[in-house]
Amino acid sequence: MSKRFYITTAIDYVNGQPHLGHAYEKVVADVIARAHRSLEQETFFLTGLDEHGQKVQQAAVAQGKSPQAYCDELAAVWQAFAAKLELTNDDFVRTTEARHKQVVQAILSKLHAEGHFYKEVYRGFYSAREETFLTHKDRRPDGTFDPAYGEVVELDEENYYFRLKDHQQWLIDYIEQNPTFVAPAYRRNEVLGFLKNNVLEDLCISRPAARLNWGIPLPFAPDFVTYVWFDALSNYITIPAAQGDPGVPSSLRPEASAAGSLLPLWPADIHLVGKDILKFHAVYWPIMLKAMGAPLPKQVLVHGWWQKDGQRMSKSTGNVVDPVAIINEWGVDAFRFYVVRELDIGPDGNWTEAGFKARYSAELANGLGNLVNRSLSMLKRYRNGVVPKASSELAPEAEKVIAETRALLEQNQLQGALQSIWSLVTRANQYVDHTAPFKLAKDPAKAERLDEVLYNLAEVCRILAVLLWPFLPGTASKINAQLGLPGSPDKLSGARWGRLVAGQTIGDPAPLFPRKES
Ligand code: MSP
Repeated sequence: MSKRFYITTAIDYVNGQPHLGHAYEKVVADVIARAHRSLEQETFFLTGLDEHGQKVQQAAVAQGKSPQAYCDELAAVWQAFAAKLELTNDDFVRTTEARHKQVVQAILSKLHAEGHFYKEVYRGFYSAREETFLTHKDRRPDGTFDPAYGEVVELDEENYYFRLKDHQQWLIDYIEQNPTFVAPAYRRNEVLGFLKNNVLEDLCISRPAARLNWGIPLPFAPDFVTYVWFDALSNYITIPAAQGDPGVPSSLRPEASAAGSLLPLWPADIHLVGKDILKFHAVYWPIMLKAMGAPLPKQVLVHGWWQKDGQRMSKSTGNVVDPVAIINEWGVDAFRFYVVRELDIGPDGNWTEAGFKARYSAELANGLGNLVNRSLSMLKRYRNGVVPKASSELAPEAEKVIAETRALLEQNQLQGALQSIWSLVTRANQYVDHTAPFKLAKDPAKAERLDEVLYNLAEVCRILAVLLWPFLPGTASKINAQLGLPGSPDKLSGARWGRLVAGQTIGDPAPLFPRKES
């Protein structure tokens, strides 16, 4: 293996409220990261916060706080949110940290020295709310701007521009030659359509510090700060650079950094982002990297958006799903399971309370929970909790699901992997019904058959714990502990039939997903 598997998420705006959309993206990234660890690949998972910009500065001032103090308070909330989701991120980047700022400035200096920027006066319209420049093209048919832009003011200001145009044809060719660079395919087509039908405008990468000073000063013109998106996108490479990552061009690595013997991180394997920020990741970011002389990430993986009850989630109408409230009531694994099982990576999803409760009850409580609880309770009751001699009646079906799950995890097909795993849950529950161990237990002549059935069920439970670990880490560990096994079931290589050893004593069965009154 020549590098570590490196996955990132979008970095959330520090001043937003953590909601279902943020939670979904981070859980999906965590499942992918855990899956790669379970496949025994060295893995690095980065998430974090986007903390600069006008909105943050204004909100801080409105609360009578310094922007940094304001960000520090909110960052604590977001970090607690990551812990609540049981994310296994290896680092947490904040764009106000010195280690990030230092590398952003190195990037800016390099690009400036190599002639990628020019200075020009801009005359036109500006939306402070969206922190974006607008042109006549952005006007609606009646001549007004969309209210989403908030107050739009006319500006006449000097700024630095990044020559994006020069790279347009190169990017089209790159995306055409690398069919999996943007996934799913319909998002790739969207980017290609955009690039082929529009002339790229050069990107304004500065804001005058006189108007906005909550940002990273341009090293070659300190009366300007860096445009937030240039700052934010850079996080994906600033953290590896700050660690001295050998995959990052040496001109961008701080002198003091030392990577030791770690395998390279850069280029990232997956940038997981929502569909609304596709252009930033599939157009601006690749061009920035090309200009830096850094290799491109292997994939921009684009997920859809969640709605609630068929409507856009919005704090103002109260139409939001609060992941923390769901987790407090139902447990983090129920939340993680639902979002990954319900929505494949790509299309939009719709959260309904009825849908959540239905999956909880059918798939978790009555499916997985019931299987594990009755299998282990019977083993306890009929055999004193001692694992009988090995039998392989369910081995072919289990091995098929293991192979399928492995292949699906390697392709980040998380929803498909859960469907495959649940085919084994369903099969094993049917096996209990067909073999009826409670009847076998009443007939001493059937003792050997009962041994076989109990072994098959316990071994399926053990294998399920291994397969489920990336998705439901707490539940997987509980199943392992109830089987009396040490450690956590965090290596897919452990999912091989027959590893459960006869004669060992299991722990105490306890319900994994308590049934709830609905
Ligand atoms: N700060 C920028 C990203 C910079 S990345 C270099 C940003 N932040 S955000 O907080 O608005 O969004 C963070 C992520 O959450 C984005 O990938 C976005 O698509 C995702 N989601 C926000 N709302 C969402 C839903 N309703 N559903 C699913 N994901 C959504 O954009």
